[in-house]
Amino acid sequence: KRPAGAPDRKLARDVSKVGVVGAGLMASQLALLFARRLEVPVVMTDIDQDRVDKGLSYVEGEIDKLRAKGRLDEGKAAKLRSLVSGTVDKTEAYAKADFVVEAVFEELSLKQRIFAELEEIVSPECILATNTSSLSVTDMAAGLKHPERVVGFHFFNPVAVMPLLEVVRGGTTDDATLATALSVGKQLKKSCVLVGDAPAFVVNRLLFRFLGEVFDAIDHGTPVAVADTALDPLGLPMRPLRLLELVGTGVTHHIAQIMHDAFPDRFGVSENLARLAESGATTLLTEDGSLDPELVAKLKTGDD
Ligand code: 3HC
Repeated sequence: KRPAGAPDRKLARDVSKVGVVGAGLMASQLALLFARRLEVPVVMTDIDQDRVDKGLSYVEGEIDKLRAKGRLDEGKAAKLRSLVSGTVDKTEAYAKADFVVEAVFEELSLKQRIFAELEEIVSPECILATNTSSLSVTDMAAGLKHPERVVGFHFFNPVAVMPLLEVVRGGTTDDATLATALSVGKQLKKSCVLVGDAPAFVVNRLLFRFLGEVFDAIDHGTPVAVADTALDPLGLPMRPLRLLELVGTGVTHHIAQIMHDAFPDRFGVSENLARLAESGATTLLTEDGSLDPELVAKLKTGDD
């Protein structure tokens, strides 16, 4: 089904080479998804070879897992391995790309700089997509020679299994760009929704409202374990802290701050979330799903 407000699909252009800016977890998941579904070469870049190698190892590991589960035969696995590559040389990576998606740190000036740099490398028709979760797509395109080819392409973690893709129409995005983005989204087997360019689009507004309220309860003295499990009757696929672990404490705190800056009267920033982000913890839960006592000790809560 086509999303409401979608432009004529005949405007969509073919994509035969994809670039991914960044080789972190989100970028690596995107590289694998694009190669698997579009069956075209995908090149990742990052600021140093070590990061590129880590991204490529992640992709290799995921291909091995798919192979072990019988989701790919050896021929397809080998083809997939050959489609994904990585380099630190942006010109080599992107010169022939017709769709480049960036998945770097959530900072407007960094993303603007990357797009400006990309414009010097890619053809004028190459789509520049951003996986931003909360920043303005219009601001990201401002100052470019071809702002009409910038579009939001917001995925959800884990990318391989979450069906939704928010396609964001920026203030200058043209119909050919949107049609191409929607066509790519469909080839990626995602359910696309076409959303307007407003802070955090649609899904993250709800997600950050939800996580924000859970942390507000903790800040106001609800024990962490109680806040984490009290919502079980709602049948959510993941408890709040597992979700926080998945998204990352640093990323979550950063987006919460962006939401607060955009809507100060509607979104607060929890002190305890800030403490967790500062701790740099990547794991919040022990193997049996209970909270890591060392982390709980870092929080100021009703457990005290
Ligand atoms: N990478 C690849 N595949 C994964 C995966 C990962 N990280 N995590 C799970 N999977 C796969 C599993 O391998 C399994 O595949 P299989 O059917 O082939 O064996 C399948 O997903 C189901 O996994 P499990 O059986 O282990 O676990 P669950 O049934 O609990 O499902 C889940 C896992 C789908 C992740 C489910 O817990 C869920 O829907 N959680 C909510 C996630 C969510 O809300 N994500 C959005 C975060 S917000 C965001 O990303 C936006 C950003 O801007 C902040």
